[in-house]
Amino acid sequence: MREEYGNLDKVEMSIWECCELLNDVVDESDPDLDEPQIEHLLQTAEAIRKDYPDEDWLHLTGLIHDLGKVLLHPSFGGLPQWAVVGDTYPVGCAFDKSIVHHKYFEENPDYHNPAYNTKYGVYSEGCGLNNVMMSWGHDDYMYLVAKENKTTLPSAALFIIRYHSFYALHRSGSYKQLMNGEDVENLKWLEIFNKYDLYSKSKVRIDVEKVKPYYLSLIEKLYVLLVYVAGLHHQAEPAVAADALRFNLHPPKWQLLEIDYWILVASGIHLVAP
Ligand SMILES: [Fe+2]
Ligand SMILES: [Fe+2]
Repeated sequence: MREEYGNLDKVEMSIWECCELLNDVVDESDPDLDEPQIEHLLQTAEAIRKDYPDEDWLHLTGLIHDLGKVLLHPSFGGLPQWAVVGDTYPVGCAFDKSIVHHKYFEENPDYHNPAYNTKYGVYSEGCGLNNVMMSWGHDDYMYLVAKENKTTLPSAALFIIRYHSFYALHRSGSYKQLMNGEDVENLKWLEIFNKYDLYSKSKVRIDVEKVKPYYLSLIEKLYVLLVYVAGLHHQAEPAVAADALRFNLHPPKWQLLEIDYWILVASGIHLVAP
């Protein structure tokens, strides 16, 4: 699954296009089914923006955190709900009792395998969550996409994207034995984020067209940055060069951008369809 989806070679679309595509899929685990997915993304991002106006990386994280749900869409293989949404948890070590529907793990061979059913399993103390295999879902997929696109988002953003459905960790405090120092720091941001992910689902409607320019500008800045970070500026392909010109960005300004926006990603996000 990871190999297949890790190729990222089937579809190329912008972040905004992806947000709109998400409107076509239904997350059956979502209590607010009557609201389009794009509203959820923007409610999360806007609520964070209100309280943390300077943390633009966190606004963007709010916008993109659920984009992996495109796995439900036919053009991305139309995976079943259980493979895309719901709680995520580590594999390769004991399933913690706090994981939802824990009792059904008894039917999983790993549950009885002494190599996998201990506190550490195949891992070691403090090995770092990025070395832990998580169950597949929209979180891990979006994390994979961001990483393969060589995102310059800070590690806290990637942490939020990968573990926001890992309730055993952020709600129950399990699996802390696998965390390293960076995870401990990043968990603080995830705890902040989570309040907005869940409670932003208020009845406050978002005027999508009104806030769209802000997010497009954020995405655009980031795109140019990605070009810079990827080191493409010396041999820029025509399209890349044209974009740089469009933003009136010449190498010294790119340099500046790297300092101002060390945190961000691209609009040219590459997503996969099988
Ligand atoms: Fe999610
Ligand atoms: Fe969400």
